[in-house]
Amino acid sequence: MSALEQLCCPLDQLPLIRQERSLVCANGHAYDIAKTGYINLLPVQKKHSKDPGDSKEMVAARRDFLAQGYYDPIIAAIVTSVPETLKRLSELRLFDAGCGEGHYLRQIVAQLTPSHSMDAVGLDISKWAITDASKRAKTIDWIVGSNAHVPVAEGRFDWVMCAFGFPVFPEFSRILADQGWLLLVESGADHLIELRQILYPEIKPHRVTYTEGVEGFVLRHEVDQRFAFSLDNGEDIARLLAMTPHIHKASYQGKQAALALQKIDLTADVKLRWYQKQGKNHVE
Ligand SMILES: C[S@@+](CC[C@H](N)C(=O)[O-])C[C@H]1O[C@@H](n2cnc3c(N)ncnc32)[C@H](O)[C@@H]1O
Repeated sequence: MSALEQLCCPLDQLPLIRQERSLVCANGHAYDIAKTGYINLLPVQKKHSKDPGDSKEMVAARRDFLAQGYYDPIIAAIVTSVPETLKRLSELRLFDAGCGEGHYLRQIVAQLTPSHSMDAVGLDISKWAITDASKRAKTIDWIVGSNAHVPVAEGRFDWVMCAFGFPVFPEFSRILADQGWLLLVESGADHLIELRQILYPEIKPHRVTYTEGVEGFVLRHEVDQRFAFSLDNGEDIARLLAMTPHIHKASYQGKQAALALQKIDLTADVKLRWYQKQGKNHVE
């Protein structure tokens, strides 16, 4: 059972105290813990749509795709590139912002647990993603919430990870301890290029993100993780399509062409960027 400690009320940021199957703040705002152990800290007032984030279908597609290990080289690259200062901590406090159904966080916790005590929290705005995640890993805290207002106290984590997600840097900085680390995992120019060539009549030039830097952070280390993999059945091709933004962006014809395939050889091109939080008066 997860601990659900050190969380804050999303309405007034007061600490949440556990009372049986609920978390309650001093102003009496109460949040019930779900049967599977997660907590929903996304009040209706802060929702911009009725069912925000990835849909039930996208979550299922990602779960079934990732479970087959196609993207495990990304996890291996994350684990081997963990900075030495994090490796030296006996307890590692890790937050996955936009964790989806939790595949990455589960694998990272499993791989680092022999050498560290892990305090791991996964947050996603999709209740479908968090429901799924919470059914499969009980030692991790799972929260329905938004990166825009992370419902935890400042300085709570040593490491924030945001993989293929929607980073909100001031929030990540707030919840990180001084000198804490932010890992951004993002697509490179050639990521799934063979699929994109089928989906789109023309490939738009790749836009490199955060070239001007990220305020409050210093880029310390970058890893290019590039590998080839093949899908040899229509189901996995459909799952990959359904778990990416291409499912919304590509034309009907493009999607039909991809869904007609039974085999495709693909390139994964992923950038890992490790940033370190700077103190307010820091000079490099
Ligand atoms: C492309 S998926 C990546 C999921 C996971 N990190 C992975 O790599 O498998 C993006 C995730 O961000 C979530 N998301 C979208 N907006 C969000 C927000 N404002 N706060 C937290 N999560 C958000 C979606 O629900 C979705 O699960």
